[in-house]
Amino acid sequence: MITLDEYVIKKQNEHPGATGELTALLGAIKLATKVVNREINKAGLVDIIGTTGVENIQGEVQQKMDLFANDKFKAALEARGQVCGIASEEDDEEVIFNTKTGNNCKYVVLMDPLDGSSNMDVNVSVGTIFSIYRRISPLGQPATLEDFLQPGSEQVVAGYVMYGSSTILVYTTGNGVHGFTCDPSLGVFYLSHENITFPDNGSIYSINEGNYLKFPLGVKKYLKYCQEIDEPTKRPYTSRYIGSLAPDVHRNMLKGGIYIYPSTASAPNGKLRLLYECNPMAFLVEQAGGKATDGFQRILDIEPTEIHQRVPFFCGNTNMVEDVEAMMAEFSADCDSRK
Ligand code: AHG
Ligand code: MN
Ligand code: MN
Repeated sequence: MITLDEYVIKKQNEHPGATGELTALLGAIKLATKVVNREINKAGLVDIIGTTGVENIQGEVQQKMDLFANDKFKAALEARGQVCGIASEEDDEEVIFNTKTGNNCKYVVLMDPLDGSSNMDVNVSVGTIFSIYRRISPLGQPATLEDFLQPGSEQVVAGYVMYGSSTILVYTTGNGVHGFTCDPSLGVFYLSHENITFPDNGSIYSINEGNYLKFPLGVKKYLKYCQEIDEPTKRPYTSRYIGSLAPDVHRNMLKGGIYIYPSTASAPNGKLRLLYECNPMAFLVEQAGGKATDGFQRILDIEPTEIHQRVPFFCGNTNMVEDVEAMMAEFSADCDSRK
């Protein structure tokens, strides 16, 4: 049984010159995860579910656990002293750790501390999604906005935690995707899923079909394709949608499938956020042998302009993403943001 700490140290030792800073950073994320996990497991017993009544900058009502998780991750990351700043779904702007220690740190973290948080009200899986970059501004000074607005291809680490029937932390440093399941009696994450890869053929599609009438024609055509009967290609595919990005992508990565949150008539850029939802999931999906695009271009190549910017998101088995991309090109070229 290999623990997450042992695994990260082993990997670090394979890189001569590695300083252990990333290892410490992942340790801070792991610690906050355990605190959040403990609270989530008490949902229903103590007053932690439901909304605060306050909206975040994106006009979404914050759940009590959104704020709890945000505070825990920020506190753990600042205390561990490896990060010069954080951008979070729950904070209007980037938070810069403008101290002597903070200014001398190499890394920035972008994260969604608790994604899909309204699922918690009904005991359904939620997640934490994180993304780590090397800063581009000079060491010794406060981090700047540019440190956070890097394309996803510059990510050093990306990962998610899925609080489901068990709690699993999955991450990549660009050398495959590895998952660690928490033993709740010990609070220790053990390697349970080394080198996760998409199976060759996927047969699950995940999308909020309630928005069907608002979807681009290319997506509507693809959904009809998923539902057609064709035995050689194992159609009709199975529809599965939790409404919680990390668990939805986790399932599709292990079983084979596609997740789509497209543009809609009322939300031309979709719902999901590029920097702390789509980029980390795209890095993981690519590392697992899949593909992640906005329907036209690779997610990881997009040059961000704002911390909370949204983007349409298509990710999963490469062949499935390419099928829907072909339909987007044929029927919905007007949705290509580059045109
Ligand atoms: P949030 O960031 O507000 O918690 O939203 C969750 C995300 C994502 O996890 C999920 O896949 C999607 O929103 C669900 O949105 P719909 O309810 O529109 O399907
Ligand atoms: Mn979210
Ligand atoms: Mn969130």
